[in-house]
Amino acid sequence: MLGKMTRRHFLATAALTVAADPVAACRWRHNHCVIPGCSPQVGLRVRPNILSLSGPQLESLKRGVAVMKALPPTDRRSWAFQAAIHGTDDKTYTNPLFNQCTHSDDHGNLYFFPWHRAYVYFFERILRWAANDPTLMLPFWDWTTYPVLPAAFRYPADESNPLYEAKRLKNDGSPLLSSTVVDDLEIALGRVSFSDTWRYGFSHQLEKSPHGNVHNEVGGLMGAVPTAARDPIFWLHHANIDRLWNVWLNQSVGRAALTDASYLDNPYTFADETGGTVTVRVRDIISSQALGYAYEGVPSPPAQFVAAEAKPVPPRVVASSAPEKPEAKLEKVEAKPLGFEEKRVKLHPLKETRRTLREALPGARPPGEAKSNILVTIEGISAEVAPGFVYRVYIYLPDGERSEDMLRQHYIGAISFFGKTRRERLAAPHQHGSDEFSDQFDATQALARLRAGGQQLDPDALTITILPAVTSRPGRSAEQVRTKAAAVAEEAKVSYKRISVRVIGGE
Ligand code: C2O
Repeated sequence: MLGKMTRRHFLATAALTVAADPVAACRWRHNHCVIPGCSPQVGLRVRPNILSLSGPQLESLKRGVAVMKALPPTDRRSWAFQAAIHGTDDKTYTNPLFNQCTHSDDHGNLYFFPWHRAYVYFFERILRWAANDPTLMLPFWDWTTYPVLPAAFRYPADESNPLYEAKRLKNDGSPLLSSTVVDDLEIALGRVSFSDTWRYGFSHQLEKSPHGNVHNEVGGLMGAVPTAARDPIFWLHHANIDRLWNVWLNQSVGRAALTDASYLDNPYTFADETGGTVTVRVRDIISSQALGYAYEGVPSPPAQFVAAEAKPVPPRVVASSAPEKPEAKLEKVEAKPLGFEEKRVKLHPLKETRRTLREALPGARPPGEAKSNILVTIEGISAEVAPGFVYRVYIYLPDGERSEDMLRQHYIGAISFFGKTRRERLAAPHQHGSDEFSDQFDATQALARLRAGGQQLDPDALTITILPAVTSRPGRSAEQVRTKAAAVAEEAKVSYKRISVRVIGGE
């Protein structure tokens, strides 16, 4: 206890002597400041990396979880009640506080970050109360630097361990895909705007993947909204998502929260450590500093706000897998199954917008002049349940042998199913309009990369390749892993209807 206090005190003092501007003084590696003692401001409680927990801290975390699990489900502080605030598919277990998890749907909701921040914050207060340890902070799982489920959540692998959950796919210690935890994160952190009408700002990108795909890759309860928060790793995953919000804000000017009053006034109700309810508005929770906490290795970002982006000119469809009727209602388009196999789809430029496409492709104009983004949309996706492997999406990917490096060059992102499957939609029908969703990828960066590498980007040879990816698993041959994945794909029944390319801006 005393040792811990002393260390915290030391870190705080050291941070003060590093520089007046803690953000500028940081040296980042994998989103972590590597300067020893570079720690958030004095007076803030620090959420630690799970890997830096001391023995007593880990015991305290386990005790808090065990106590919450032992409370009756009618107690708002119980494990069951807290998890149901996120979601539940038990129709006999009801409360106005249940099923609140806020994800962006096809209408582009922007409450994902603030809602989950507040949810985790009140959970942490309850956990501290349950552990009877006023110093307890929720740790985060930084899966980018450590893509394996932390050992304390896997061993002992039985009921004696309150952090263990038997149904996970990742209890075997196999790592998450690096395309999810490294590449997708890089895409999301690279976004300057928090939101945008066409759903490729930071909020939507990060929410889809890594956020959603880590859920699905961990699998089991974590793989679906109505059960996710019952798995103890959920809370460390979301502490990390919350941390990445701060990491993103720290990156540069222009990255900021929204000022929109109706957004900031939006209220949410949770339970706190007294067992009573508490209502907060987005503006109360938009800054982690105002809530009194920070993350190990991440300085608190300055509170800065920007107006939500004005609606840009609607993008124009320039190429489609269904060129005869590129904008036909999706109800009329036939679904094409996506199993555990490669799907290469040829896209056809549309006559009327051919010039827009040609000019938008990198290389057509002098660098610096081309200001348009190229968006790839996979429309009419549906899935019974999430497949537990990942569908990665590539542009202009050649057939035949492909090196890892080649795959990375052509990668534009991965489809995310979290919160979008038919089973999840049935659990919370009020959250969703239809059974299908579309997923959007910004291919601008990848195209520029390919062009810089000397590739000719021919509008008439435009292809999108969807490739399922699954990590190797200890003790199983590649063949066994594939057979299993194919069986899972059968059950997931994934299909899509159309792929389109749109150009936004640049006119
Ligand atoms: Cu509300 Cu990670 O989900």
